[in-house]
Amino acid sequence: MMENDIQEVLFSEEQLKQRVQEIARQIDEDYAGQEIMLISVLRGSFVFMADLCRAIHLNCMVDFMAVSSYKNGTTSSGQVQITKDLTEDITGRHIIVVEDILDSGNTLHYLLNLLEHRNPASIRLCTLLDKPSRRKVPVEVHYSGFTIPDAFVVGYGLDYAERYRNLPYIGILKPYVYGGQ
Ligand code: PRP
Repeated sequence: MMENDIQEVLFSEEQLKQRVQEIARQIDEDYAGQEIMLISVLRGSFVFMADLCRAIHLNCMVDFMAVSSYKNGTTSSGQVQITKDLTEDITGRHIIVVEDILDSGNTLHYLLNLLEHRNPASIRLCTLLDKPSRRKVPVEVHYSGFTIPDAFVVGYGLDYAERYRNLPYIGILKPYVYGGQ
């Protein structure tokens, strides 16, 4: 059972649900009377995106992008490749990029810059988790679920070697799983 590989539950299903509702209320308030487009960056954000979009009451379009960031060990590099682009034109739209985790900032720094060049009306970033201690390039965050320490977290969309994405909570992985102490 994958639960046996979890050392500690960092955020329970209930805590995640509560925080997602709070973020959604904030977005509803900030964009009152406007239509927004949520852009989920695959794959990690698919669970957060599914919950967040259903908690928002505004008119809301959704679209998806996939990027692959060359990784040096566990840190992403500045070299980001778009493996799936958006289907929709974002010109003149209010965009919120939805991410599961902001780490070095390399991926989001590149992606936000790329999307800004497509002339949206506005663009903001919503990340469920933020690890500011790991930041290498500055990224402006408008909505952040939780600030976390530099631990190996999985679940609620986040993976280790493509596993654990389907855990309904966020947990810290036992170090033996990734060859640690
Ligand atoms: C994660 C996350 C961000 C990126 C953040 O994706 O979804 O896209 O890493 O890291 P950074 O701030 O250091 O750039 P990952 O590459 O693990 O792919 P996945 O979403 O498919 O799991």
